[in-house]
Amino acid sequence: MNIREMQEAILKLKKETGTAILAHSYQAREITEIADYTGDSYKLSVDAKGIDNENILFCGVHFMAETAKILSPQKRVYLANPHAGCPMAEQMDKEMIAAIKAEDPDRTVVAYINTTASLKTVCDVCVTSSSALKIVKAIENDKILFIPDCNLGDFVKKNCPDKDVKLLNGGCPTHAAVSANDVLAAKAEHPDALFLVHPECRPQVVELADYAGSTAGIIDFAMKSDAKEFIIGTETSIAEHLQYDCPDKKFYPLTKNLVCNNMKLTTLPDVYRSLLGIANGDGSAAEIIMDDEMIAASRKCIDEMIRLGG
Ligand code: 13P
Ligand code: SF4
Repeated sequence: MNIREMQEAILKLKKETGTAILAHSYQAREITEIADYTGDSYKLSVDAKGIDNENILFCGVHFMAETAKILSPQKRVYLANPHAGCPMAEQMDKEMIAAIKAEDPDRTVVAYINTTASLKTVCDVCVTSSSALKIVKAIENDKILFIPDCNLGDFVKKNCPDKDVKLLNGGCPTHAAVSANDVLAAKAEHPDALFLVHPECRPQVVELADYAGSTAGIIDFAMKSDAKEFIIGTETSIAEHLQYDCPDKKFYPLTKNLVCNNMKLTTLPDVYRSLLGIANGDGSAAEIIMDDEMIAASRKCIDEMIRLGG
């Protein structure tokens, strides 16, 4: 089967099984093309809440499929590649944050959505990169503990100067690996390009940007801008998608190393095999299984994110 034939087979199976495919924007083009919903973490969370289909197949990493299950517990939610996890989501656990809370109980605990369901049970509100500023500003309490990403947290802290934001030492290994020297080299090579960056990058990288924002924010900025050239400081797939969608502009990935290997684990054959497994009901598709208690406890801070960020 070639790519087109496999995409056709996927579209047919999707219909037969009543499955909606959700794909994060970091997925490959051949996957976003067959998805029903694409976007960044925030958009996909909101999409997951309103889906009518019986099954959801998530192309992304584990915490995203888990979030879809929490928001649509009556649906069967599957992850197209069960090995796709987010290293940042595993950096802090419930016990660690509960111990910090016990010592510093007056802080509102704000968790980046890139966290496990178990950790979400001890947090007050979730954020994504596109909703973090709005939500932190909307929180009545001025004392915040922002976890786990200290780079996104630093971006929030600088843009919410009235808040006392405490950070811990976590972050995205893919975005945090970029240096200011990478930016200077890319700017030297493309002197007319605007530099757009994701705030998961380190502060010294974000400081050099013409625009800093979430995946959706970067895409929106690039599409609306009158500029013709852009250096894209986030996962390389965003420069690729933008180049497809805006052929009259030029997009350069900040470095070719800005690849999330976890996001890239999912392949089109994984999507096809998962749908076959859903159709056959043979248990081969990787279903997200969570008990009602965990769903209810972890959902509170996601609902709060949608309430404050909506
Ligand atoms: P957003 O989808 O919130 O922009 O986050 C990027 C990311 O790293 C997802 O894991
Ligand atoms: Fe996690 Fe970073 Fe990959 Fe996003 S890009 S899934 S935060 S490791």
